[in-house]
Amino acid sequence: MIVAIDGPAGSGKSTIAREIARRHGFEKLDTGAMYRAVTFAALSRGIDLADEDGVCHLARLVNIVFQPQPGGVTRVFLDGEDVSSQIRTPEVDAGVSKVSAYPDVRVAMLAPQRAVARQHDVVAEGRDIGTVVFPDADVKVFLTADPRERARRRVLQRHEGEQVDLSALEPEIAETLASIERRDALDASRDVAPLVAAADAVRIDSTAYSIEEVVDQISALIEEAQRA
Ligand code: DC
Repeated sequence: MIVAIDGPAGSGKSTIAREIARRHGFEKLDTGAMYRAVTFAALSRGIDLADEDGVCHLARLVNIVFQPQPGGVTRVFLDGEDVSSQIRTPEVDAGVSKVSAYPDVRVAMLAPQRAVARQHDVVAEGRDIGTVVFPDADVKVFLTADPRERARRRVLQRHEGEQVDLSALEPEIAETLASIERRDALDASRDVAPLVAAADAVRIDSTAYSIEEVVDQISALIEEAQRA
């Protein structure tokens, strides 16, 4: 069984995919983390992100491994080094759209993405899962949410576990909103594998729903597909 969840940054894909994986015993595949790992690898080796050949060559060389941890968290290893937090910095946020728009970087990521689904039932999240990576997925969801709500969720996620009041976070939310809108525009307008809903995807707008409500909706789609 392959469940594809596509949608823009901050729409809740990661959290929802994690919960779906837990409920149904599926493997979770975070394809954004792979593009982030390539971006981090380029930045840390001093490769100019504008150097398409250099970045694509690197994408073919690196080894990216996911290691699920108890509690539902997955750690990301780049050539054996745990880079789980380094791939979530503002520098990587700013560069990843450029890297993920290179056609040969995308080609290099296809085989490892598809390999995961050969061995397990999988819930994969990204931008082109239902259109390019798994066009025959059993369940396809296109998850959206209002941009301001997405920015708010991203910032709250960043400060998880801290005692902070929401009004103090307002400047960070505004900055994150600008970055999200910039990235949405780049991801949606690129030539290869742009962010678009597959024709047969079920669209869910999560702005007004809790995580659990969205997970329930997707679970119902999975159960329906399992019966078919
Ligand atoms: O989901 P995320 O924010 O971690 O994704 C990081 C970037 O990677 C995002 O700007 C778009 C890109 N991406 C992509 O092009 N294709 C995917 N399947 C997943 C992510």
